[in-house]
Amino acid sequence: MSSLFRKKSIADLEKNASPLKRTLRTWDLTFLGIGAIIGTGIFVLTGKGALTAGPALSVSFLVAAICCGFAGFCYAEFASMAPVAGSAYTYSYIAFGEIIAFIIGWDLILEYALGVATVSAGWSGYFVNLLDNLGIHIPTILTAAAGTTPGVTTVFDLPAFIVVLVITWIISIGITQTKRANDTMVIIKLAVIVLFIICTVWFIKPQNWHPFNPYGLYSYHNGTAAGIIPAASIVFFSFIGFDAVSSSAEETINPSKTLPRGILLSLVISTILYIIMTLIMTGVVPFKMFSKYLNAPVLAVLAKTGQSWLSIIVSIGAILGMTTVMLVQLYGQSRISYSMSRDGLFPKFFGDVDKKHQTPFKGTWFFGIITALAGGFINLNILSELVNIGTLTAFILVSAGVLWMRHSQPDLHRGFKAPGVPFTPIIAIAFCLVLIAGLNWVTWIRFVIWLIIGLCIYFGYGRKHATINSKH
Ligand code: ALA
Repeated sequence: MSSLFRKKSIADLEKNASPLKRTLRTWDLTFLGIGAIIGTGIFVLTGKGALTAGPALSVSFLVAAICCGFAGFCYAEFASMAPVAGSAYTYSYIAFGEIIAFIIGWDLILEYALGVATVSAGWSGYFVNLLDNLGIHIPTILTAAAGTTPGVTTVFDLPAFIVVLVITWIISIGITQTKRANDTMVIIKLAVIVLFIICTVWFIKPQNWHPFNPYGLYSYHNGTAAGIIPAASIVFFSFIGFDAVSSSAEETINPSKTLPRGILLSLVISTILYIIMTLIMTGVVPFKMFSKYLNAPVLAVLAKTGQSWLSIIVSIGAILGMTTVMLVQLYGQSRISYSMSRDGLFPKFFGDVDKKHQTPFKGTWFFGIITALAGGFINLNILSELVNIGTLTAFILVSAGVLWMRHSQPDLHRGFKAPGVPFTPIIAIAFCLVLIAGLNWVTWIRFVIWLIIGLCIYFGYGRKHATINSKH
């Protein structure tokens, strides 16, 4: 019986790399990163975040950013060592072997596919708002998943469902169209955020920042966890996406330099914007008022400043911003399931490259439809916590992988070396554990159930069909 921990070598991976065209440079990747990073986290989850931490929400963002920064170094080291598609999934195949790789790939479905579902629900909130402003009303029952707004009966989020299907269609017909659309939308998203900052910073009332940290680091308030850490566990979602950059390794020019730069640059730019934005939000609006604006908290600021003209522009920016997040994440999902199918851990169906479009067409639609249904039926907060726990687990394994590889294969060529090893990955792991601890316990249970389902698939299918079998 061959080992559960049979590994791939980097040489093998590079040999099997598909002949995709290498066209992406540092700024393309940074754009891809920002496209994937800035979205529902800042435009939607800041409402819940502000209620959880008060004005100290900006500190929560900093905590989550530090966690991602340390993990980002580890991703960058791996990406430079194995510049092939598959991100954390591929890295854990190299470091730990098959079963951990499968678990990570399974985990990444939470990060990417459920991530898209979460973002689609956030997208829908701004979209419905925008339509309302324009005098178009969708029946309330079809504007959100059940139980989203207390006292309002909703059943299905139709806009979320439809937008995911449209994104699926775009991804399924090819990368060229995707990248062009992504770049344009990222520019608009950044321009709108800068405009928002310039127009609203003048309305800050420093007294709204007092008390700055009403709930401390971690406390219980009205029966729920509150404070800087629980809020950081929520807004961690805002940083998810930088790792999707590493999924484009096979399409990148000089990946060992370009990938780390792209990852770290997109992370730094987003962090700066987030901290400025949350300071403005809690400085203009007394934080408890966000309870009335949970679907679109950024608009609370504009309601307060009376700049209703700006709220339409910001809504459009938020809608486009969240669209790019969905594009990159669904792209990431289709490439991960493609890699897993190429390795035999998932059925061939997911790896079938369509002749006309040169994309994993069927796999893209499979996940697109499931994601659209999840976005339509499941509450955004439940989704986002599951995404966070799945991603944090992936971060832990990637960071542990860097430690392990430095120990077991110290001479391997690394185009980029994470500074401060062993401390960098250890700090990343510690931060991830703290953020997991800040999540709801129900989320932990859901996550364990998800892992058990994955293991059943691995032992029922993947283990027997793994292509690595033929080499052992
Ligand atoms: N970071 C992404 C967002 O906030 C997932 O939408």
